[in-house]
Amino acid sequence: MNKLKMGVIGVGGIAQQRHIPAFAEMTETVELTAIQDINIDRAESVATMFDIPHVFEKYEQLFEVVDAVTICTPNKFHAEIAVAALNAGIHVLCEKPMAMTTKECEAMIEAAEKNNRLLSIAYHYRYTPEAKLAKEAIFNGEIGDPLVTRVQAMRRRKVPGWGVFTNKDLQGGGSLIDFGCHLLDLALWLLDDPKPVEVIGKTYDRLSKTPGQVNDWGVFDHETFNVDDHVTGYITFENGLSMQFECSWAANIREDHTTLSISGVDGGMDVYPFALYQTKYGTVWNTEAKLPEDNLSPGFLQAKNFVDSCLGESELIVKPEQALRVTQLMEAIYKSSATSSSIKLA
Ligand SMILES: NC(=O)c1ccc[n+]([C@@H]2O[C@H](COP(=O)([O-])OP(=O)(O)OC[C@H]3O[C@@H](n4cnc5c(N)ncnc54)[C@H](O)[C@@H]3O)[C@@H](O)[C@H]2O)c1
Repeated sequence: MNKLKMGVIGVGGIAQQRHIPAFAEMTETVELTAIQDINIDRAESVATMFDIPHVFEKYEQLFEVVDAVTICTPNKFHAEIAVAALNAGIHVLCEKPMAMTTKECEAMIEAAEKNNRLLSIAYHYRYTPEAKLAKEAIFNGEIGDPLVTRVQAMRRRKVPGWGVFTNKDLQGGGSLIDFGCHLLDLALWLLDDPKPVEVIGKTYDRLSKTPGQVNDWGVFDHETFNVDDHVTGYITFENGLSMQFECSWAANIREDHTTLSISGVDGGMDVYPFALYQTKYGTVWNTEAKLPEDNLSPGFLQAKNFVDSCLGESELIVKPEQALRVTQLMEAIYKSSATSSSIKLA
């Protein structure tokens, strides 16, 4: 089998910690060929660290020596680079969120279709063992028709103090576009991509705009901070479903927690940790799962699904149309908060 020649664009934190190690491990199917970053010193040192032969200053040069790329730049550049790569005949795995706006996401999908190339987005929570179990349990009818979903992606004091995460021009938003998007994506996938009807959202920045904040993830400048650190939302869907949504980087709560709970007609579930809630034999009935301890990491499984799909051996798990729906909802939450009104989507 021919190996897939992979390139990496933007080699900061997530590229070094998740993408490059995952592709480097797939020695039978992947040749990690080239990297590109506007910070050429960083690119040179990452190339040395991971033994990658080519370093480029411009992404157009990298397209000439690879079959596929993973894009790990700040959000502002996702769409521009993805469209250029797809137009050059290169398959694309792009970090989340897919892009800053729905319009950008649509341009990416159009480029993928026009050039008959694959496009996927790094929503890696789908590859957690709990998420896979939840998907299977719902498919097998364990909870019946879903009714009410609660999503909480909560961090008490974790504003990222590195990179450009608190810069709206480069990222498009804060806690929602960075962290909330993962759980929103996972919830929509588990619910089988229901069509949203109406969105009400509210964003906050008061804590992070106040000087002298306690923060577990480094130091940030409260004066230049111009994104959200806490977001709430309420979303209704075409089939009668509703979702209560909340995420934060900074909130006065007891502790960090990730909650995805779905209450259905015949049962309910928590995804983290995975449990089923039903009624049986005239009583309430709870089932817990004991997960295997030797699971492959979600980052590796994500890379493997992308590579196998590019080689024609598998199908993408995260489809671009699904990632677009996440961006559409986030955009509606931001718009609802900015205009103090509910946003109709259907
Ligand atoms: N899936 C996840 O859980 C997860 C976690 C962290 C970050 N991310 C996403 O990954 C992306 C990068 O985040 P990070 O934490 O690695 O940030 P980072 O700041 O550590 O790294 C970004 C890198 O991109 C480079 N860069 C900036 N503009 C560029 C351009 N136009 N062309 C080429 N390179 C450019 C920077 O020099 C830097 O090396 C963001 O989209 C972020 O949302 C995802």
